[in-house]
Amino acid sequence: MIRVLVMSGPNLNLLGGREPDVYGTTSLGDIEAALSSRAAELDAQVSFAQSNHEGVLIDALQAADGQYDAVVFNPGAFTHYSYAIRDAVASVSVPVIEVHLSNISARESFRSVSVIAPVCAGQISGFGAASYVLGLEAAVDLGRSA
Ligand code: DQA
Repeated sequence: MIRVLVMSGPNLNLLGGREPDVYGTTSLGDIEAALSSRAAELDAQVSFAQSNHEGVLIDALQAADGQYDAVVFNPGAFTHYSYAIRDAVASVSVPVIEVHLSNISARESFRSVSVIAPVCAGQISGFGAASYVLGLEAAVDLGRSA
């Protein structure tokens, strides 16, 4: 069975109440429930991790290597400047799919740069909570074709 880890970075624990005009009203718990249902339909196994701390996210990525077939990762604001997270993604062999609720290319100019994207398998951005589900589907496809 394909094993997927879904990771969320800083402030994503506040989804549902955080800037709802940008990120919608769906909570992270609701997103995780939708991912669990979709994973069951796909006959895949999904686990979740969220942290507001860069080092904790790096530790989780390193620990995921060899334990999961793919990682779906919303690094939050770290997307735009964390070379440490970029290096962690580049250092592990598990493929990482970057996801964003908002379309990061259509917002402030600092958000249009992802320092993580060049070392990811791909990026999904702009579909709200569905970005995570699309990321899971891509992760399962990747895992099956590996
Ligand atoms: C985000 C986009 C980032 O720019 C922002 O800092 C976030 C959320 C998204 O999912 O759209 O925290 O990653």
